[in-house]
Amino acid sequence: MTEDFQIKGGQLCIEKVPFPCGLVIFGASGDLASKKILPSIYSLFVKNLLPSGFFVMGCARTEMDDSSFRSKIGTIIAENTQSKDPALTDFLNICYYSKIDYSAQDSYKTLLKKVKNLDKKHSTKKQIIFFLATPPTVYEDISMNILSQEELSAITQSDFWPRFVFEKPFCWDLESALALNHKLHEKLSEKQIYRIDHYLGKDTIQNILMFRFANAIFEPIWNHQYIDHIQITAAETLGIGHRASYYEKSGIIRDMFQNHILQMTALIAMEPPPSFDSDRIHDEKVKIFRSIRPFTKKDIMDHVIRGQYSKGTTGGEPVAGYREEQGVAPDSTTDTFLALKLHIDNWRWEGVPFYIRSGKRLAQKSTHIGVFFKHLPHSIFPELTPEDLVSNVIIFSIQPNEGVSLTIQAKKPGPKLCMHPLKMDFKYSDIFGASLPEAYERLLLDCMSGDQTLFIRSDGMELEWSIIKPFLSEENIRSLEMY
Ligand code: BG6
Repeated sequence: MTEDFQIKGGQLCIEKVPFPCGLVIFGASGDLASKKILPSIYSLFVKNLLPSGFFVMGCARTEMDDSSFRSKIGTIIAENTQSKDPALTDFLNICYYSKIDYSAQDSYKTLLKKVKNLDKKHSTKKQIIFFLATPPTVYEDISMNILSQEELSAITQSDFWPRFVFEKPFCWDLESALALNHKLHEKLSEKQIYRIDHYLGKDTIQNILMFRFANAIFEPIWNHQYIDHIQITAAETLGIGHRASYYEKSGIIRDMFQNHILQMTALIAMEPPPSFDSDRIHDEKVKIFRSIRPFTKKDIMDHVIRGQYSKGTTGGEPVAGYREEQGVAPDSTTDTFLALKLHIDNWRWEGVPFYIRSGKRLAQKSTHIGVFFKHLPHSIFPELTPEDLVSNVIIFSIQPNEGVSLTIQAKKPGPKLCMHPLKMDFKYSDIFGASLPEAYERLLLDCMSGDQTLFIRSDGMELEWSIIKPFLSEENIRSLEMY
């Protein structure tokens, strides 16, 4: 595989050029495809970032043909854009649809024949991406059915293709994830498997690595000698929407903690990798996952708070409680909120607690990471103890109000010796203007160009499931009081 890097003067941009390819999306009639994937592909199309040879093939159980799929995409795009977009017709012309029965071999045969024709028509050089935007319950059916089709050889040209993209969560627990990984590895190399965690596609999340490793001044103080504790918050105002059947089985622990939260923890805590290379970055994350102190039943009793939202108002509108949501059991014990304390047992983080909280239907939408520094070792100011002075804090605002802030003590102007905490605040919108791109745009491009840095490697994913395993035990978690 060849990689094309362009280093642009001044801006230090490292760009990889996507390969021509066809994108086959399973679950194309679902929420994720409609809200995130299709609008992201369209946005890449408008920005002229897609490869020269490209097509989209949507697949789902829903009865549709090319024309109804195109009009569905047209409606989705129109909802997001004010005026009629002249690029839309061109985009729709490269979109196709094939109805599929996930467990029927014949369905796949028909699909792959269509893909083979489109590959020729759009010059995609036998480079196909299969994107599984479906519930994980059908991952095995879809991937194994595709991989067992003879027709696949007609659209395969090298060891790096086809590529398979799996949405999160990758299965339901450690056992199911190990089993699927094993089956996939019998037919595919790890280089062909892209496990998504869309948080990694967010610019503000990627910035954590730049902030830590492209600046010399933070790394020397990024450890237990200077840092008191870390707080990671992912708070949402939304409820579960129409996703009861998924959420009842997943809860907050599988939905947010197993993936997004652990990835943010790893990025904040990892050692500097020797190079900005996918495997070297994954190696460092994996080391962090291995160092997270395993949760015992006692830890869960002492350091975990679980909760479920009840009815109330959001933005002035009355909203239902979790148990009243359509499709949720009236006596459901699924958690929609979790707060916990974790420890990373290594030299850098010895004695530094990580406080994590995440929940739905909370008062405010805010995802942020706070790095709270220790108090001064000694105060030179008469009558003030180190504890009287607010200690330094770095906040990574992941969303909304994306940015980074640093709280410091400063002298308040005037004749007296007064100090005041001051926030040095960088906001993406002030510096870069336009709103940030959707995470899926970046992830799709990376998959097309063969860059796995922002995806989850097999060993990392297995460790993520091991970490949360104690939370999946009925006995452990149900013994906790629900708030
Ligand atoms: C998804 C979860 O992975 O992330 C959702 O399944 C959650 O439940 C969403 O709402 C949050 O993503 P974002 O990008 O809005 O923070």
